[in-house]
Amino acid sequence: MKISVLTLFPEVFGPYFSASVPGRAQENGLFSMEAVNIRDFATNKHHHTDDAPFGGGAGMVMMPQPVFDCVEAVKKGYARPPKVVFMSPCGRVLDHTLARSLSQEEGLILLCGHYEGMDQRVIDRLVDLEVSIGDYVLTGGELAAMVLIDAMIRFIPGVVGNSDVHVEESFENGLLEYPQYTRPADFRGDLVPSVLLSGNHAAIAAWRRQQSLLTTARRRPELLEGEALTPKERAWLAEQLKTD
Ligand SMILES: C[S@@+](CC[C@H](N)C(=O)[O-])C[C@H]1O[C@@H](n2cnc3c(N)ncnc32)[C@H](O)[C@@H]1O
Repeated sequence: MKISVLTLFPEVFGPYFSASVPGRAQENGLFSMEAVNIRDFATNKHHHTDDAPFGGGAGMVMMPQPVFDCVEAVKKGYARPPKVVFMSPCGRVLDHTLARSLSQEEGLILLCGHYEGMDQRVIDRLVDLEVSIGDYVLTGGELAAMVLIDAMIRFIPGVVGNSDVHVEESFENGLLEYPQYTRPADFRGDLVPSVLLSGNHAAIAAWRRQQSLLTTARRRPELLEGEALTPKERAWLAEQLKTD
């Protein structure tokens, strides 16, 4: 997978994506990314990329010319036309399903807005999909693009060491994850649940399923609506929730 991020601040991407899991994944050739400076494509004398909004109002709007030229130039580096995604609070809210589906794209261009927003003609003519990372407004699309890339690359085979990681993770099976513990078994008198030390794999799996159900019921009950619970699980859950 190749990702091109189009931004006015390419320097913010290097530190994050050269470290830890994303850094290793790039070194191993599992994905590649480049951050391209939109300002380099501005043809006006002072390389301005924004101007006042027609009709008045606060702030500045990103001009179409530098963005069109940037997108068109970057597309030439792809054998097949990449999907163009605009990071925007007006977009489809990012979730597990969307991250997984975008991770299957061969190429992606992520366009980051700044200032008050983007000239609508860019969105109408160049953008295939708008993606939001939540119902709040950031100063620019850079953090949103980083969140999207990070969430997507975890689905690329080999990026996250063990393939079982996904199966167990929050959202993968429609539930939030069960609590995790590591050594020591006794930390300042706080003990790890004894079943996890039992070596009994069936009992551990059953405990994890129960804890997953309980965490989900307490924090995100709407996620349980599509979940096929056994009558025994329903009864157990009702009993636990009574004492909350
Ligand atoms: C200050 S915001 C513009 C907000 C715009 N005036 C509005 O009210 O929808 C500047 C840029 O940050 C990015 N951005 C802000 N919030 C975002 C969010 N929740 N998800 C994705 N991108 C976001 C977008 O690229 C946006 O063009």
